[in-house]
Amino acid sequence: MTNVQVEAEAGGLDGDAGEGGRRLLTRRRLLGGIMSCVGLAGVAGTTAWGPRLLDRERDLVSPGDDVVRQVEAGRTRAGAATVTATLRPRPVTLDLAGTPVSTWGYADAASGPLIRGRAGDLIRVTVANELPVQTSVHWHGIALRNDMDGVPGVTQAPIGPGKTFTYAFTAPDPGTYFYHPHFGVQLDRALHGVLIVDDPHEPGDYDAEWIVVLDDWVDGTGRTPDQVLSALTGMAGMHSNGMIMGGMETMGSPLLGGAGDVAYPHYLLNGRPPGAAATLTGRPGQRVRLRLINAGSDTAFRVALGGHRLTVTHTDGFPVAPTTVDAILLGMGERADLLVTLGDGAFPLVAAAEGKTGHAYAVVRTGKGQAPAARPAELNRQVRTTETLSPADAARLAHRAPDRVHRLELGGGMMPYRWTINGAAFGESGPLRVRHGERLRLEFVNRTAMFHPMHVHGHTFAVGGGPRKDTVIVRPGQNVAVELEADNPGQWMTHCHNVYHAETGMMISLAYET
Ligand code: C2O
Ligand code: CU
Repeated sequence: MTNVQVEAEAGGLDGDAGEGGRRLLTRRRLLGGIMSCVGLAGVAGTTAWGPRLLDRERDLVSPGDDVVRQVEAGRTRAGAATVTATLRPRPVTLDLAGTPVSTWGYADAASGPLIRGRAGDLIRVTVANELPVQTSVHWHGIALRNDMDGVPGVTQAPIGPGKTFTYAFTAPDPGTYFYHPHFGVQLDRALHGVLIVDDPHEPGDYDAEWIVVLDDWVDGTGRTPDQVLSALTGMAGMHSNGMIMGGMETMGSPLLGGAGDVAYPHYLLNGRPPGAAATLTGRPGQRVRLRLINAGSDTAFRVALGGHRLTVTHTDGFPVAPTTVDAILLGMGERADLLVTLGDGAFPLVAAAEGKTGHAYAVVRTGKGQAPAARPAELNRQVRTTETLSPADAARLAHRAPDRVHRLELGGGMMPYRWTINGAAFGESGPLRVRHGERLRLEFVNRTAMFHPMHVHGHTFAVGGGPRKDTVIVRPGQNVAVELEADNPGQWMTHCHNVYHAETGMMISLAYET
């Protein structure tokens, strides 16, 4: 039995939010914090552990119900280790290629501490909130117990400033995951980190592992994410600093159609802009496992390594039939694991901001030479999105006729800035219902001019006959059907992983009936 310690560095807490912080608080009260679910239909009030349901929704499973504990008991493995960590979300200053930026982070870095365990381990993370505002932590992609899912107003009360909350859950499935707040647009700061669940049975057919976190960055460059949100929602013909893309000038991508709402000043790879690129060092002939995480808020990334082809082995944690590509395109919240055999020299690892101007970049070095700074040709050769991959046999969802089908029409747009599911913003309509043990089919129908990476909490789904995923890109005009086993009772957010879309309404709850 091992006990792994991951301790985030304690940071200076400067208790005073300052003028900006107070404005933020006021703004958040006005907006009502949709991603924080304050407006959830069915929640009449919040107790210490979670929501109190309206009479008409007493027939829904609550996060604190016995059945949630029973299902969790079924996940625990004898002899499992406990992985402990402490996260201290707090104001931090980061160095972006020589320019200091003030932001909020889990560490003095653009991404939080790595939390790592083995499948079946108990993950126990204490969150000590040193921010001037409320927060929460969501464990993206993990099929965990509902009361640990980190959605304020639904699965727990928000963690107030100066308050502490301990998350403890079994992580049943191996894979590459990440964690982030489920509160307002906090994800668009440095508030995210990687969670890796190792497979005790995996051969590990590689010599080295590189974790690559991709992010779009604005905070501390003259505008906070909350101010970006205000600019978007208050836009009405205003085009502030050319940063907000509105109306006719939505950014375009040949693969995704409308590519985003925000032209970010920086795109980061492991926290660094291209001007201060990281170097990943290896030896020629080495086989490297790349774990890519798109932690961006409004940007899909198209990733290639100059002079190499990449073999995709997993997406969203689950194995796929190994598929060799020149480039892979990841929406927000998606992950991919890839294998690459390194050549001799120096090569650009580029994550181009899809449909936008700019890219994130690192140098892969195994020998002499200058890495070409240009966009490698591989970016425009064979590009795959992850839902087009085939599942590995072990990850295939057995065929079964759906017991229930929900159709989710994705709607909305820039003017006014409002995004909807079935015509309603979050909180304006009731939940999607499902019963424990059912096979559920969700049909995403995109009626908008933008792509939406749709994410379901607490489950993985099969995309058609394709791979197991928890986040899937739905392109403009496209229909994507996914199926899942309803085996994890509770109330689960289902939403677009564009944080600005989720926060302005593109979110609904998937609720189990008792
Ligand atoms: Cu990573 Cu509800 O999301
Ligand atoms: Cu969206």
